[in-house]
Amino acid sequence: MSDESSVVALAARQKPKDTLGRPLHDLRISVMDRCNFRCPYCMPREQFHENYRFLKPAERLSFDEILRVTRAFVDLGVRKVRLTGGEPLLRPNVAELVGELSALEGVEDVALTTNGVLLAKHAAELKANGLKRVTVSLDSLDPTVFAKMSGGFSGLEQVLEGIQAAIDSGLTPIKINAVVERGMNDHTALDLVERYRGTGVIVRFIEYMDVGNRNHWSLDRVVPSHELMQRIHARWPVHAAAGNYRGEVAERYQFDDGSGEVGFISSVTQPFCGDCSRARLSSEGVLYTCLFAASGTDLKGPLRDGASDQELTDLIRSVWVRREDRYSEQRALQKEHPLRKIEMYYIGG
Ligand code: GTP
Ligand code: 5AD
Ligand code: SF4
Ligand code: SF4
Repeated sequence: MSDESSVVALAARQKPKDTLGRPLHDLRISVMDRCNFRCPYCMPREQFHENYRFLKPAERLSFDEILRVTRAFVDLGVRKVRLTGGEPLLRPNVAELVGELSALEGVEDVALTTNGVLLAKHAAELKANGLKRVTVSLDSLDPTVFAKMSGGFSGLEQVLEGIQAAIDSGLTPIKINAVVERGMNDHTALDLVERYRGTGVIVRFIEYMDVGNRNHWSLDRVVPSHELMQRIHARWPVHAAAGNYRGEVAERYQFDDGSGEVGFISSVTQPFCGDCSRARLSSEGVLYTCLFAASGTDLKGPLRDGASDQELTDLIRSVWVRREDRYSEQRALQKEHPLRKIEMYYIGG
C-alpha cells in the first residue's frame, strides 16, 4: 500500500471528531413524530391540530433501516442509543426494535424517553427485550397544572402508574424530566422533589428552551436552575456531585441526608455544548448534529437508493467532521440564531 493510501485507510478506521474535537458517542433516534400530548412548549395545540400532516408510516424509517444506520453510527463511535419521539411508545412494536438494538455489538446502553402514558402497558416487555432504563417526562403532580402543561390531557394517573410499572420491571435508574416554565409550574417543582426523594427515582429540572419556532419562548419564562436549586437547598440541603460521564447534560446535586439526588439541565443559563457528543436522527431519517439545527442530512434517500454500509458510514463521518454546532453557547453570547429551527416533537429533545 502506498503511504498516501495507508493514511486514507487509517483515517477511515479512526473515530471521527468534529471541528471542536468532540467525538460521536450518543445517538438519539426519534421513532415517531406523533404524540398523544400537546405540551404548549413543544407541540402547541393550535399548530398541531387534527389536520396537521404528520409523516405517513412509509415515510418513517423502518426498523431494518434504523438498524443499518445505527450500525454505521456504532462503527463511528456511538455507544449509547436513546429512543425518543414525539412519543416513542406510539410506534407499533417498538419493543421489537429495542430488542434488535440491544443485541447490536458495541451498543452499551439503550434507553427511552417517554411521556409515560403508555408505559404501564409496555414496561415489562421493554425490559425483557433489553431496554436498560426509561426517562419519563412529568412536569407537575398537580392535576390542573399537569393538564395545562400537557395541552389539556388528564393522564396524570396513567403516567404515575407507568413510573411504578417501570420501577417494578427494573428499568432503573428511572429519571423524571420536568420542564420548568415560570408562572406555569415552577410553584409545584418542590412537590416533585418531595414525592421522589428517597425512592431512587431521579428528578431533573429542565430550563424552558427556545427549541423550534412555535412555542412563543421568552427569556422571562425561564427559571434559572440556580434559583431553583437554591429553593430546594433551603428545604432539603444539597451539595454538588461529580458528573457520571463526560458530556452529561444534567448537573447533579445530592441530598446531604443521603436521600438521593436531583439534576438540572441548564441549556439556557449554563450551556453544555463543549462536550456535546450527540447526534440525532429524525423518524424520517434526517441526521441533525444539534437540537437547534436549521437543517440536516438526509440518510433515508441513500438508504433506499441502495447505498452500501461503507457509503453510509462515510456519509455520516463526513457530516460529523464538518460539525461546528454550539447553539446554546452562541445564544448566551447573543450571536445570530438560525431563522428556522427543527421542532422538538420532530427530533425528540
Ligand atoms: P442520560 O443518559 O440519562 O444522562 O440522558 P440524557 O440526560 O442525555 O437524556 P434525556 O433525554 O433525558 O435529556 C434530557 C433533556 O435534556 C432532553 O429532553 C432535552 O430537553 C435536553 N437535552 C438533551 N440533550 C441536549 C443537547 O444536546 N442540547 C440541549 N440544549 N439540550 C439537550
Ligand atoms: N424546553 C425544554 N425541554 C423541552 N422538552 C420539550 N420541549 C422542551 C422545551 N421547549 C423536553 C420534554 C421531554 C424531552 C423530550 O424534551 O419535556 O422531557
Ligand atoms: Fe409530546 Fe414530549 Fe412534546 Fe410533550 S414534550 S408534546 S409529551 S413529545
Ligand atoms: Fe449540543 Fe447543540 Fe445542545 Fe449545544 S445546543 S449541547 S451543540 S445539541
